[in-house]
Amino acid sequence: MAVVISPSMLACDFLNLEDEIEKLNKIKGIWLHLDVMDGHFVPNLTFGHEIIHSISQKSSNPSDVHLMVNNPEFYIDSLKEMGIHNITWHIENNCNHLDLIQKAKENFKSVGISIKPATPVSNIPDEILSQVNLVLVMSVEPGFGGQSFMSSALGKLEELRKIKKEKNYKFIIQIDGGISDKNAKDVIKHGAENLVAGSYIFKGSEAYAKKVEKLSS
Ligand code: DX5
Ligand code: ZN
Repeated sequence: MAVVISPSMLACDFLNLEDEIEKLNKIKGIWLHLDVMDGHFVPNLTFGHEIIHSISQKSSNPSDVHLMVNNPEFYIDSLKEMGIHNITWHIENNCNHLDLIQKAKENFKSVGISIKPATPVSNIPDEILSQVNLVLVMSVEPGFGGQSFMSSALGKLEELRKIKKEKNYKFIIQIDGGISDKNAKDVIKHGAENLVAGSYIFKGSEAYAKKVEKLSS
């Protein structure tokens, strides 16, 4: 299966959001990663419904929402009509994950669960792994773009790949945080199938398409 790259819009030029999406529309096969932070689950605050809706309307690529919020239930319910492809929340959230997965599956094509750097893979029970379409391994502490990749994520990727193979689960393994051309090959080698990248894609002068190609090949 080909590796999918998800540019994280957190690092884009927000004063030229439309331009940024049009540039990304020229690249086929990517996802647009949208980081939703509420200032509680993580210290930082990003964007909400209006901006998510505008981005997903304008984008010809699937939107991938990463919830870093205390109340994923509210967002799963209120984001359901916005044409979003994937919605992910954190296993560290205090909620009934199985109920929420069922609910989310009624309105989103893909549903994901994420673990923070300090959370072991074993904190995601089999009942959840068998249900989700995506597992997101955070390779930085969630909250901010531009941080350094934590290599402790590599073992988690391996572990998930092993479980997936042994149990014939269908989830895609996604990695998020500090991804660049320096570590892309390594994360893919360890099992990552979807690479989120913010600063690497949007900062610097090289064309986005070229950078996407560098990450996926
Ligand atoms: C961090 C976010 C990431 C972030 C990645 O909490 O989940 O998606 O935007 O940014 P980079 O690639 O700059 O680490
Ligand atoms: Zn993210």
